[in-house]
Amino acid sequence: MNEQLLKLFRERPEQYISGEELSRTLNCSRTAVWKHIQALRGHGYEFESASRRGYRLVRMPDRLNSAAILSGLRTNIMGRRLHIFDSVESTQTTAQRLVAEGAGEGTLVLAEQQTIGRGRMGRSWHSPEGKGVWMSLVLFPQIPLPFTPQLTLLTAVAVCRAIRRLVSVNVGIKWPNDLLIEGKKVCGILLESKAEDERLLYIVAGIGISANLSAGDYPEHLQNIATSLLIESGRAVDRNRLVGETMAQFEDLYGLYRQEGFEPIRLLWEALSVTLGRSVRIPSKEGSLTGTAQGIDEMGALVVRLPDGEIRKIYSGDIVMQ
Ligand code: BTN
Repeated sequence: MNEQLLKLFRERPEQYISGEELSRTLNCSRTAVWKHIQALRGHGYEFESASRRGYRLVRMPDRLNSAAILSGLRTNIMGRRLHIFDSVESTQTTAQRLVAEGAGEGTLVLAEQQTIGRGRMGRSWHSPEGKGVWMSLVLFPQIPLPFTPQLTLLTAVAVCRAIRRLVSVNVGIKWPNDLLIEGKKVCGILLESKAEDERLLYIVAGIGISANLSAGDYPEHLQNIATSLLIESGRAVDRNRLVGETMAQFEDLYGLYRQEGFEPIRLLWEALSVTLGRSVRIPSKEGSLTGTAQGIDEMGALVVRLPDGEIRKIYSGDIVMQ
């Protein structure tokens, strides 16, 4: 009910909607409408009310909220089942537990804060309270295990498109799946999967978007390498909308991937990439290599041309753009 009510107000921003219209559309009494408005007020929504004109939504709370997400969600599956927590160790861990308990495809776990947020390659992920979009999406893709990196790249394209739709920032993808604005990281993606006998059972796609962090929210070692949508655009982003838009973009791309395979995703990734054409350094135990990033191949590996013309493919790890 709160979800339907919010949908009506969001469709007509700034406008009054009469109690009569609300009760007619929602098929409930005007007292029930008033009770729902009161409940939303309790969650931090601010309504103005005027006799004969009705109610007007003037401010949404800056909290992750399932009614706010669902009222704007255009998906059939992704994000339809939502679990929102104030604080968890890692949404990845929570999502994996939910899978063990029977959670289905598209289940989304969100948290205001993570106390042990995980990054790639054993790193930690800075996840302060109330400022980011820290979320994990449950997927059961019917793909061979070695194709999993393709979904990492698909996720990066989905988040990049969602951010571009809602915020005016020049965000691009650094291989394999970091989102950068002006060279600084604004989003990281971590896919964790479970397989048995070489068969993929499920994937949990972890997405961390530094949405509304201020410069002071970063520890010193991240100050020069990380940024947020707020810092870059000067405006706080509505995190609930960003969640919904990311789910919508993901569902569209996932559908495309299932129908046409990786090729269209590969082209979209290349179009959004900030890595291609750049000189990159690939650190490895045997010593680092330097070359020019040419593209990604049909499995998602980065294709690099070395100074002597030799082509190398990089399947995992990190690169340094120079
Ligand atoms: C990286 O760039 O190293 C990946 C960072 C992934 C962070 C997200 S936040 C939500 C989800 N839960 C986690 O513990 N990690 C991912």
